[in-house]
Amino acid sequence: MIKIFKPCDFHVHLREGDLAKQVLAENNKQFQKILIMPNLNIPITNSKLLNKYRKHLLKNNKNLEILFTIYLNQNCSIKELSEMKKKKLFFSVKLYPKNATTNSSSGVSDIKKMTKFFEFLEKNEVPLCVHGEHVQFNDDPFEREKKFLDIELHWIRKNFPNLKITLEHITTKDSIDFVKQHNLIGATVTTHHLLENTYTFFGNHLKPELFCKPIIKNAKHQQALQKVVLSGHKKFFFGSDSAPHLKSKKFTEFCCAGVYSTKYSISNIIEFFYRNKKQSNLDKFLTLNGNNHYNLDYYREKITFRRNSNYKFKRFSKFKNDHLINYNFYKNFWSSI
Ligand code: NCD
Ligand code: ZN
Repeated sequence: MIKIFKPCDFHVHLREGDLAKQVLAENNKQFQKILIMPNLNIPITNSKLLNKYRKHLLKNNKNLEILFTIYLNQNCSIKELSEMKKKKLFFSVKLYPKNATTNSSSGVSDIKKMTKFFEFLEKNEVPLCVHGEHVQFNDDPFEREKKFLDIELHWIRKNFPNLKITLEHITTKDSIDFVKQHNLIGATVTTHHLLENTYTFFGNHLKPELFCKPIIKNAKHQQALQKVVLSGHKKFFFGSDSAPHLKSKKFTEFCCAGVYSTKYSISNIIEFFYRNKKQSNLDKFLTLNGNNHYNLDYYREKITFRRNSNYKFKRFSKFKNDHLINYNFYKNFWSSI
């Protein structure tokens, strides 16, 4: 048995419409708080789109705390951001480099053009969440994260020293070092980047369900992530980057990037800490570090989890005439009682 606070997921994609209803229901079961991403088909760049999305989700929500993000690009308006911030309609903004990932074609191609926005965020204490990949034609996708640190993140950190930054879904030792070495920056880590590497991803058969951005890295990077997460280091916390795509869009010619992990992520994370005899750091990774990074409060009631063997995992969850593919790694399942 393990007792932990009900966890928080500081990076998750709910999508929109009926799919969002289903994914939100699953999130209500697993989490006390989620920070949700704004890369909808029409990205949430203004108050009209935000209000519509808020209405839809809040209507279908039970008791989960939802933190909303704005999709930051050159079309955003400082005036509107300021008004929405005063009304507490959103919590953070998300920066997507143009074409780095799913629904990022309206992302930013030159961060220097975003100076006035960074100044606004810094002055108004709005956290900046960053997809940290530098994307350029013919570059090696395995090098994108490192290149982003050297070019973009270094520049942002230097020019906006009081801006709170979250480097999302980190996958490399380089990112761990960068985060450790700089002030006011924390990082989210996903379940699949902790548990998988290039060998498990495509060393034998290629597993399209594991295709995501940033691409899963080799065992050396994976071990560095595992080490820092197990240590309970205060700058690293859970953000699943759970990103549902329909099975028909994953098991096909052009596989979409994104791993849907919500259903079993907490069970997998508990098992990972349990096997490494670090259960005492679970609350840090799943609840405390993220809330401290963002200066947020959280529910302190503890939940008990029990380990089950011979559990029948559901590989697919039905959605309309299609399915979502549930990510799971371990054979044991931790159920809450
Ligand atoms: C995410 C998605 O599908 O929205 N995909 C992914 O591969 N991680 C977007 C993102 O966070 O990069
Ligand atoms: Zn994401």
